[in-house]
Amino acid sequence: MSKILIRGAKVLGGEPQDVLIDGETVAQTGTGIDGGDATVIEAAGQILLPGLVDLHTHLREPGREDSETVLTGTRAAAVGGFTAVHAMANTFPVADTAGVVEQVWRLGRESGYCDVQPVGAVTVGLEGKQLAELGAMHDSAAGVKVFSDDGKCVDDAVIMRRALEYVKAFDGVVAQHAQEPRLTEGAQMNEGVVSAELGLGGWPAVAEESIIARDVLLAAHVGSRVHICHLSTAGSVEIIRWAKSKGWNVTAEVTPHHLLLTDELVRTYNPVYKVNPPLRTEADVMALREALADGTIDCVATDHAPHPHEDKDCEWAAAAMGMVGLETALSVVQQTMVDTGLLDWAGVADRMSFRPAAIGRLEGHGRPVSAGEPANLTLVDPAYRGAVDPAGFASRSRNTPYEGRELPGRVTHTFLRGRATVVDGKLA
Ligand code: DOR
Ligand code: ZN
Ligand code: ZN
Repeated sequence: MSKILIRGAKVLGGEPQDVLIDGETVAQTGTGIDGGDATVIEAAGQILLPGLVDLHTHLREPGREDSETVLTGTRAAAVGGFTAVHAMANTFPVADTAGVVEQVWRLGRESGYCDVQPVGAVTVGLEGKQLAELGAMHDSAAGVKVFSDDGKCVDDAVIMRRALEYVKAFDGVVAQHAQEPRLTEGAQMNEGVVSAELGLGGWPAVAEESIIARDVLLAAHVGSRVHICHLSTAGSVEIIRWAKSKGWNVTAEVTPHHLLLTDELVRTYNPVYKVNPPLRTEADVMALREALADGTIDCVATDHAPHPHEDKDCEWAAAAMGMVGLETALSVVQQTMVDTGLLDWAGVADRMSFRPAAIGRLEGHGRPVSAGEPANLTLVDPAYRGAVDPAGFASRSRNTPYEGRELPGRVTHTFLRGRATVVDGKLA
């Protein structure tokens, strides 16, 4: 097997070190390592991180291969520095059976760019009425441990309770898209000053917060684990902080876009800014950043939501919700969290690799960069500055809110079990 010597990178942002990869494994770390005939990557000034892990990716296969496939989505993931992604269940057919999750899992294995861990639906057809075959999906080759009806909220309290009870048996977790459906009927954007001025139907913060409050109480009641997807309001942060202070098994994620963008952008009526949950206010953005920094929010998750051009190139009300995010996630986190002094690179490794892997109980990812560990690694040049050009995306979709925006940092190399999937910023 081949050897690779990464020379002089700051491992997790610390002192420069050499890291020798031998085959699929990190063989040695230290200074002045003699790699022998190893391929050398000069990495002075760069940051070496554990391969990033996304708890929340929409890969669209099966059923919407016009927007993304497992192959194109995992290529986008690799470019973004990810070595594992959790594929959401809102496909066609829905991933609510062992057969469908095994299909997605197998496609991921064949891709070779990034590991794919399928998420199973909580309810049959995401309809919120009947529990899906959670046990069968867990026992399948896909080994599902994260269940979510994402895109839809499990709003029936009894079904949510049963799901929490069921996954407890195998240490699984229910990831909730917290959105009270009656409070968000016809909603088009965040409910606030901007929605009032634009005359667009508002999406109140309480629609998210009321479900989170209910679900942390339910999780505590049954002694199970709940994970809250894409937190978007300051009030949601307060509830999670309170639940954690009680010692309850509650975790939460935030998306890069909710760390950077606000509902002021909706004034442009450009549907690239239409997303669920919606972009909120500056005060919410600041509360989310602070909560990610202090650990109240456990991790960053992209909610990468590819849509074909025709589903976004239309008037605001008709446009699909969601934005692509895999290829820009780390840069947005660098801008909002690192360059602002809120988080150091070790913190980024924690929030984008260690913790999401731990929440998903994912093996072989989110491991320290040390001898004997699988060589799932990401090398980042933090000094890079460049404008986002969607034409160069590996994703099949282009619905980014950052087109033309200058963002800091670039993934130069990604390694999946010792094999380079990205070299010098390009797919290998
Ligand atoms: O904006 C979103 N898009 N939010 C979701 O919850 C679902 C996602 C999608 O599947 O497009
Ligand atoms: Zn969602
Ligand atoms: Zn989602």
